Amino acid sequence: MSTLTETREDSKTSLARQLLRRKSIVQMESEAADHRGGTLRRSFGVLQLTMISVGATLGTGILVILGEAVPVAGPAVWISFVVAGVAALLSAVSYAEMAGMVPVAGSSYSYSYATMGEGMAWVCGWCLVLEYAVSVAAVAVGAGQYVNETLNVIGVQLPDALSQPPGGGGMLNIPAFVVVLLATLLLVRGAKESAVVNTVIVAVKIVILVFFCAVAFTAFDAGHFAPLMPMGAAGVSAAASKVFFSYIGFDAASTAGEEARNPKRDMPRAILLSMLIVTTLYVLVAVAAIGAKDWQWFGDSEAALVQILDQLTGQAWIAVVFAVGAVLAICSVVLTVLYGQTRILLTMSRDGLVPAIFGRVSPKTGTPVAGTWIVGVLVALTAAFVPLGALADATSIGTLFAFALVNIAVIILRVSRPGMARTYRVPLFPIVPVLGALTCAFLMANLDGITWLVFGAWMLIGIVFYFAYGRRNSRVGTQAEPQDQEALA
Ligand code: ALA
Repeated sequence: MSTLTETREDSKTSLARQLLRRKSIVQMESEAADHRGGTLRRSFGVLQLTMISVGATLGTGILVILGEAVPVAGPAVWISFVVAGVAALLSAVSYAEMAGMVPVAGSSYSYSYATMGEGMAWVCGWCLVLEYAVSVAAVAVGAGQYVNETLNVIGVQLPDALSQPPGGGGMLNIPAFVVVLLATLLLVRGAKESAVVNTVIVAVKIVILVFFCAVAFTAFDAGHFAPLMPMGAAGVSAAASKVFFSYIGFDAASTAGEEARNPKRDMPRAILLSMLIVTTLYVLVAVAAIGAKDWQWFGDSEAALVQILDQLTGQAWIAVVFAVGAVLAICSVVLTVLYGQTRILLTMSRDGLVPAIFGRVSPKTGTPVAGTWIVGVLVALTAAFVPLGALADATSIGTLFAFALVNIAVIILRVSRPGMARTYRVPLFPIVPVLGALTCAFLMANLDGITWLVFGAWMLIGIVFYFAYGRRNSRVGTQAEPQDQEALA
């Protein structure tokens, strides 16, 4: 009897030990440099890294969700963008500090492994699937809708059965499926090729948004800003939660740590630079749009920015060029977010928490070919068949959870490793990361019950998967954590 009790106690202790065991930063870096599954190629400078983050961030949020947020906030929608931007920036600075210290491909998953242990790392990695794979399916559905609208303008109409998702009047969303497969094909060819295409598309989307501002400011009417907050502060904060989605993705550069030439220096810069670029553009576009049209007009608009351009210029071709640019813009979100997901899974597979196939890098292309195909095909099928609805909202909750963990990771490492070399330091420590974690918790609490239910179910599946697979295959082992001597300042 007592032996049985002892065995139970032992297994409880060993479970607790396993959930809490951490992976040293030195071990992560040495695995990244020399892994038997193959290593990634270092080809990115600060420009490509910034473009990866801007590519993953600037898309559906400003092109579609702006129109939905105006009726909620009124003319003060630009303040909602500032509020959501500040919330995102609080976490972005924490990402920048961690990316400079842990320059591997796993983003917040790796940061959690280094600070809070395997259990939290798994939870974080599982949440990142919501932030990356599930959101990419949702964004692809948005891209598909823009493809349909652009085809309509030039007189081509796909039958609903083949261009709408189930639940939206169709059976199969072919445009969304094709967008994801094309992005997968490009990613398989090579990270450098993908980065070049992404950089070109990012330039296009910045140009079309600047062009929009230039046209919209010609019709600027300051009277549209009074009253500023017809729905009060509550409207502004509800719209801020809505437009927070438009900032998701700035962390994508933190999945490129193993492909960056100088990750410790460049990744923090890229994350902060991308936040500066997107926040400036969002606020400018919001001010220009409200200046051009009364806020009540937005309630009836579908693709607000295209319609404003069409009405102000009276030239249909300008609207078509903008719509094509918008499709490309959303496609680059698909490309970069898909890229991020494959790199996070690659890191998790090296640790044994997901199957090894995700970590196999082809010596020919220097990319995780099999893992990219698996993720690409699954996401393409999801985008084609699944009515995303509540699942898309779950993206935000998963993202906010991962952001909160990164803020906590910064606090833990500052306390436990104060002497470690940091290429970037969060200002006003500990106020900023504490505020960052609290803001994430606040925004999570604002999400509705269904979203929490979906999140709970998702986490439950994750826990079952961990006990069925990850726990048995985890490779991090029980070795004592090295002191990261070589990383000490
Ligand atoms: N931030 C990304 C977008 O707005 C997800 O499309």
